[in-house]
Amino acid sequence: MTQILKGNIVAAPELGRLDITEHGYLTAEDGKITGVFADLPERYRQCDVQDWGDCLILQAPADMHVHGPQYAMMGLGLDKPLLEWLQSYAFPTERRFTDLGFAREVYRRLAHDLIANGTTRVAMFSSLHTDATLVLMEELEKAGIVGLVGKVNMDQNGAEGLQETTEGSMAETLRWLEGCERFTRVRPVLTPRFVPSCTGELLAFLGRLAAERDLPVQSHLSENHQEIELVARLHPDCPNYGGVYAKYGLWTDRTLMAHCVHSDGAERAAMKAAGVTVVHCPNSNNSICSGIAPVRKMLDEGLKVALGTDVAGGSHLSMFGAVEDALRCSKDRRILDNWETPHLTVAEAWYLATTAGERFFGAKGGFAPGDPLHAVVLDDSRLLTPYPLTVRDRFERCVYQRQDGWLRAVWSEGRQVL
Ligand code: GUN
Ligand code: FE
Repeated sequence: MTQILKGNIVAAPELGRLDITEHGYLTAEDGKITGVFADLPERYRQCDVQDWGDCLILQAPADMHVHGPQYAMMGLGLDKPLLEWLQSYAFPTERRFTDLGFAREVYRRLAHDLIANGTTRVAMFSSLHTDATLVLMEELEKAGIVGLVGKVNMDQNGAEGLQETTEGSMAETLRWLEGCERFTRVRPVLTPRFVPSCTGELLAFLGRLAAERDLPVQSHLSENHQEIELVARLHPDCPNYGGVYAKYGLWTDRTLMAHCVHSDGAERAAMKAAGVTVVHCPNSNNSICSGIAPVRKMLDEGLKVALGTDVAGGSHLSMFGAVEDALRCSKDRRILDNWETPHLTVAEAWYLATTAGERFFGAKGGFAPGDPLHAVVLDDSRLLTPYPLTVRDRFERCVYQRQDGWLRAVWSEGRQVL
């Protein structure tokens, strides 16, 4: 099947670069992009064109760190720092996911709302519950979302009713992986919650499993000072927090590490050497007062950085909002650094929200030929214009001026899902 979308096409194929094709054509065959063209190639002249007029056509963003069950508590308890917030709000929420009816209701809403925000790819944490995790994967796949979901592992420092035994966690992980075989678009990612939640024995098991089955890994790293001190007490033999994941084989180029707010030079260098992807979650870092991640510095050092909402440490589900959050956070960092580090540009932050995540999923990014088609159409015609605006101006403004009903269409892996 051939698809041809016409409009103002904006792509971010590299950090800081924006390719803009005004009134151009984005073409795909069997769900895979074949190109972006200023003039429609001869071979497509007989095909139907979906003409979106003066609208913007953008890459659909990828949320590379989000907690599915916490969608039920979005906005709650954000006056508390991480460890207290987990005990008072996140753990009591996740405990409810033994109830599969409740899980179904929350996850159906979440899947719908992700699409309604233009997010088509995710790297998501579930709770420790195997069956609810399979419900989550089912609802995401049904809605047309692709990506990774992890059953959380936690065999220590949990809460009443929200902790596994070591053996139970291992057995349930294997049962969950069996249950995942029926899914094609939403795939499993091993998910030790964070170092304090897991014994060394469990981390070692997950590291072996990742290697044996070639599975990706996601977790949290150096988010909050108290958390880092706790990890240092639990693992005095490791050089730093990241060293614990490295020790247990959970530190590869298929690893996502959320936050890294307080990662020092050595920890950042170790991530770069191993090919670990940092997932920056600026809204969460501000909401639960974790800190201000040095994103500009990480990028300058050559680390891979993608973007996440971290719902519900983050207070909203929009990746357009996450781009705004990243920009504000990097400006705060600049102010605190006495203007010694430049802040991110809109083009750079948009790259983090799109291509950086797409690459983790094996795509080239930036509407490259061969990539699956993930795109959104934005209608900004209701915004006032003081003088004629360029497409670039309009794109940049859309990050800050998100409007009800502005998202006219969404495609995920070539399928129109909105
Ligand atoms: N660290 C361990 N668990 C969590 C969580 O649920 N959210 C955040 N932001 N950090 C964590
Ligand atoms: Fe998180």
